[in-house]
Amino acid sequence: MNNQKMLIAGRWTEAASGESIEVENPGRKTVVATIPRAQSEDVNNAVKAAGSAFDQWRKVSARDRGKMLLEIAVKLEAVTEQMAETIATETGNAIRTQARPEAAASADIFRFFGGLGGELKGEEIPLNNNMLSYSRREPIGVVGAIIPWNAPVLLAALKIAPALCAGNTMVLKAAEDAPLGVLLLAKVCDEVLPAGVLNVLTGLGEECGAAIAEHPEIRKLSFTGSTQVGKSIMRAASDRIAPVSLELGGKSPSIVFPDANEDWVVDGIVSAMRFTRQSQSCTAGSRLFLHENIFDEFLEKLAAKTASLKMGDPLDEATDMGAIINKKQFTKVCGYIEDGLALPDAKLVTGGMPDTEGPLSEGYFSHPTIFAEASNEWRLAREEIFGPVLVAIRWKDEAEVIRMANDSHYGLAAFVWSRDIGQALRTAHEVEAGWVQVNQGIGQIPGQSYGGVKQSGVGREYSLESMLESFTQKKSVTVNLNIPAPD
Ligand code: NAI
Ligand code: MG
Repeated sequence: MNNQKMLIAGRWTEAASGESIEVENPGRKTVVATIPRAQSEDVNNAVKAAGSAFDQWRKVSARDRGKMLLEIAVKLEAVTEQMAETIATETGNAIRTQARPEAAASADIFRFFGGLGGELKGEEIPLNNNMLSYSRREPIGVVGAIIPWNAPVLLAALKIAPALCAGNTMVLKAAEDAPLGVLLLAKVCDEVLPAGVLNVLTGLGEECGAAIAEHPEIRKLSFTGSTQVGKSIMRAASDRIAPVSLELGGKSPSIVFPDANEDWVVDGIVSAMRFTRQSQSCTAGSRLFLHENIFDEFLEKLAAKTASLKMGDPLDEATDMGAIINKKQFTKVCGYIEDGLALPDAKLVTGGMPDTEGPLSEGYFSHPTIFAEASNEWRLAREEIFGPVLVAIRWKDEAEVIRMANDSHYGLAAFVWSRDIGQALRTAHEVEAGWVQVNQGIGQIPGQSYGGVKQSGVGREYSLESMLESFTQKKSVTVNLNIPAPD
């Protein structure tokens, strides 16, 4: 058995309790490793290590911290294949379409932020010859980071790289469902960084995660995951007025205008819905608003396209789409499909309940499923399913579709499809979302701030702005340049 340890103070350690948790390959329903079950004592040890490392780390020049991140990027690139296999095994994400691109994107994030050390600069206010007023960007201290399982290594990189570049130290908790790639990332970081700068724990949310959220010496919390847990993180932080960054859920609209009834748009919708990640993505365009003039014809093409995706073993290079992360999520997704099948007005266009026999019954595989004639009021159209279940909603005029798109407590991403750029941009400006894409449905871009509005979160990631706003605090220094001459 592959018994993994976690990283505290530069040492690979078991949980203080000696307890462990099993990690499963959801494509085969087999246990592939065990990880330590960290609890509050382990969190205390990690915070202590991060606290003592901070005094030194903050004094390393920003460019030199950046250089270490660049070194990590190079080392990560060298283990891309091992990382890709690890991610595919533990998450069920297909190696060709997801796991390998995630491994490469994670190295890229270290390279991106590694180059930004020199940008951690303050400002000077033009006053007069008698006074100098300037600001400094200082690190916050020990950052607590909690990440989910859907893109585990990339989401870890997005917290570690900017926080460390800015001079903070970190205690990061990996998701219990996908800790192995993050531990491999930790191993690579540990080869480069001073002990205690990055501590990586494995454990359960209610135990290890909550202990991080509540720890008085953690000065900043950065969380990615469900809106429900995000609220508990914010509540815990409010007790000590700690700043939080939250990247939470979504129920993002994809709005198709009648002039966009074309094959490239069909491909774009498949991509925006993140079907090849089993739609386990916060940015999934999971509410498809199709204009009534093209509704049936477009859905027919979309159904043919999704049915052609090859679902199966995540480690097989031919696979387009892998497995759902675990039994709990699989059961939840099935519940939504059952719900749709039972609705008298819902029309099942493609997909449906998972196979109960044959190779796809050996893992948590869910077919891409589309329900048409959906109402924006249905549970299926309001809640984040986090599985490959798309609802298609008919619309007539622009004002109506914008109203429906915005009728959601989420506001993460949106997609607008039209050859009429004026119309598309008008819509993009009206939609309540942190990120709108026009005529494409690609993934996040380093350098472009990314994050949600409404209950999809606070704060931004992926950019220089995000590093400055989320991981530094500004100090103003005001100096009298005109003190009287000594007596
Ligand atoms: P979750 O939000 O419970 O888990 C995310 C992370 O938070 C994990 O590391 C977990 O251990 C930790 N956590 C859980 N409870 C905690 C607590 N009380 N205090 C501190 N940390 C805690 O997400 P879960 O249960 O894996 O998935 C449930 C739903 O959440 C999904 O169906 C999906 O709708 C949403 N989700 C959204 C994600 C996104 O990127 N927007 C990612 C993962 C889940
Ligand atoms: Mg949970």
